[in-house]
Amino acid sequence: MRTIDDLDVSGKRVFVRADLNVPLDGERITDDGRIRAALPTIGRLRERGARVIVAAHLGRPKGAPDPRYSLRPVAARLGELLGTEVAFAADTAGESARAVTSALADGEVALLENVRFEPGETSKDDAERGELADRFAALADLYVGDAFGAVHRRHASVYDLPGKLPHAVGGLVLTEVDVLRKLTSEPRRPYAVVLGGSKVSDKLGVIDNLLGTADRLLIGGGMVFTFLKAKGHEVGTSLLEADQLDTVRGYLERAEREGVEIVLPVDVVAAEKFAADAAHAPVDVAEIPADRMGLDIGPRSQELFAQKLADARTVFWNGPMGVFEMEPYAGGTRALAQALIDSGAFTVVGGGDSAAAVRALGFDENAFGHISTGGGASLEYLEGKTLPGIAALD
Ligand code: 3PG
Repeated sequence: MRTIDDLDVSGKRVFVRADLNVPLDGERITDDGRIRAALPTIGRLRERGARVIVAAHLGRPKGAPDPRYSLRPVAARLGELLGTEVAFAADTAGESARAVTSALADGEVALLENVRFEPGETSKDDAERGELADRFAALADLYVGDAFGAVHRRHASVYDLPGKLPHAVGGLVLTEVDVLRKLTSEPRRPYAVVLGGSKVSDKLGVIDNLLGTADRLLIGGGMVFTFLKAKGHEVGTSLLEADQLDTVRGYLERAEREGVEIVLPVDVVAAEKFAADAAHAPVDVAEIPADRMGLDIGPRSQELFAQKLADARTVFWNGPMGVFEMEPYAGGTRALAQALIDSGAFTVVGGGDSAAAVRALGFDENAFGHISTGGGASLEYLEGKTLPGIAALD
């Protein structure tokens, strides 16, 4: 794969697909980690005299402009972090995009409006995606793929566009792949994986694969209740994916056969309702009241998980242990992050939510081996799938 240093970018318009999908509270960016992760590639291109056109998605708008998903606040933050004005195109590949990108001087940067405001971006129809990719291609001379968090998407700006312009892989994608490769090829053992987040169904592929590579699988977050139910516990009003129970039972059996230790919480914080001010208390997993929902792993589970990570040499963590955005349910995620740090293992935190949690809870990012910008992308990589956005750059 060609890198950006293999491209002659001076005076050229370079289309950089980045992942700037940051969490927003109204127009306020609550975690700018993905913007900061995009800086080195953009900075390097500027230094070398490129006219940088950045494109990205935000959220999941339905193929039409929607002010709630505008990248305008991101352009402002990107400008602050780069220490330079970032021109903002009010559309994605229309008149404004053409005007803004053609006015760029060497070393200047523009951000296009959300690529998902165009129906062609996420279309299943090759011709429709191709038509949008042609319009993107007309804006630029070269393409750089650096949106690691989106490389698992077969989308126009990620997958189709590289075929239409001379292209290279960005530094962020290279770094991410390098780290994840260490996890798939001979990780130092014991290799422990911690999975959280809300849905088991999102994690099926990766669990399947991890049963063949990890030594220990620790499970928390909303998805744990489907595991607890599969083990015969009642889970009250907790999140449950009843249609996944058989699959989960299959995983538990397979883990037993293959000698992979599956560690489940022994207690959870059970609340009256999904609210920060709801009555809540830690309860044993065998005693979750019928009218309560588990919103975090409990204190005994925090200790158990820390103990199961203490001797690990490699740890991959994806997904918060509880609803960390509400303080009463942040304890599990906070304790887990600390346990990763204390383990002294090579630690990789994957996923927008877990990465945001680590920063929101005040941990020093440098205390972890690597904080990935990719959630779904890192999981699909670990599943062993071909990632369209990487294949297209090859
Ligand atoms: C992410 O948030 O994981 C990436 O930005 C991809 O977003 P998507 O799941 O909406 O495609």
